[in-house]
Amino acid sequence: MGRPDPWNGMGRRVHLHEVGPRDGLQIEPAFVPTEDKIALVDALSAAGFSKIEVTAFVSMKAIPALRDAEQVLRAVARRPGVVFAALVPDAAGAQRAVEAGADELNLVMSASESYNRANLRRRRDQSFQSLCEAAAIAQAANVRVNVSLSCVFGCPMEGDVADADVMHWCGRLIDKLGAGGITLCDTTGMAFPTQVARLTRAFGERWPATELTLHFHDTRGMGLADVLAALDAGANRFDASLGGLGGCPFAPGATGNVCSEDLVHALEWMGFDTRVDLARVLACAGHLPALVGHDVPSRPLKAGRRLDLRRQAAGLADV
Ligand code: COA
Ligand code: ZN
Repeated sequence: MGRPDPWNGMGRRVHLHEVGPRDGLQIEPAFVPTEDKIALVDALSAAGFSKIEVTAFVSMKAIPALRDAEQVLRAVARRPGVVFAALVPDAAGAQRAVEAGADELNLVMSASESYNRANLRRRRDQSFQSLCEAAAIAQAANVRVNVSLSCVFGCPMEGDVADADVMHWCGRLIDKLGAGGITLCDTTGMAFPTQVARLTRAFGERWPATELTLHFHDTRGMGLADVLAALDAGANRFDASLGGLGGCPFAPGATGNVCSEDLVHALEWMGFDTRVDLARVLACAGHLPALVGHDVPSRPLKAGRRLDLRRQAAGLADV
């Protein structure tokens, strides 16, 4: 009666955004060659993600790993139905991203003052002004604007961030800057499921027409639980990263995003409609260790899918 069973997806559409090429590669110490980045994005867009965060148009001194942003974004093959987005912190980045053909700018600032200063070298109100200029550039070029608000579920420097602060910044970004979408980011894996449900519901009640995305890191093993809590609270868009790549330069020990193939595998078994082809994602993930030069956290890559049977390994005769 009433509310559907939250543990049965019943074909409910869930949009997955692949952020590995940006959130994942941005902290890799070894530079991934431009042609390999392009091939990775092309393989990911063929796998069925709704959106791909291709790169970031940020200071090349701040993030040298993504210094080839223009070349990558210009070269990736466009696919109908896939949004090719780029992270942007200011007007200079917006100009570069628009000229390189981004479908969407993912503007970024933090809900916490200290983290904003560390990551973007500005106070929040200064970042907000920069983002308004960046949004104006995008809007004049008919490019979509999303804003990722970092540290919504906690800040590694300040601790808890009050829900009221989060709602305050969301309000300014939606009403004043004109963001069409907001991503609530758990930048360093501090979110927990009941907190996620509370903020997701509050956001949905106040801004039902604004596209909401959730962005979790799996630093403390709560990433998938956070996704389930958000789904139950009405969310249907999630960022995830191939192989679970990612981290945070200002939070030592912080691990990667929720892993794309972990998420696709789980949601598929639960009956959600992600339209992402798990076999293709696993094939992409299989190339990652060679690409980045180290092991990646992906679990299905190591263990296989739950019905990939291993009769021979177990010494069982085929019957
Ligand atoms: N793209 C490329 N270069 C940029 C740029 C952009 N979006 N924004 C600024 N710059 C350049 C300026 O032209 C200037 O170059 P110069 O030294 O040759 O004159 C230099 O960067 C410094 O500019 P300034 O405006 O003073 O920036 P800053 O040093 O205060 O840094 C940011 C501010 C936001 C540009 C920088 O901190 C940044 O890119 N941060 C992104 C961090 C990030 O991506 N974190 C992870 C994801 S959230
Ligand atoms: Zn992140």
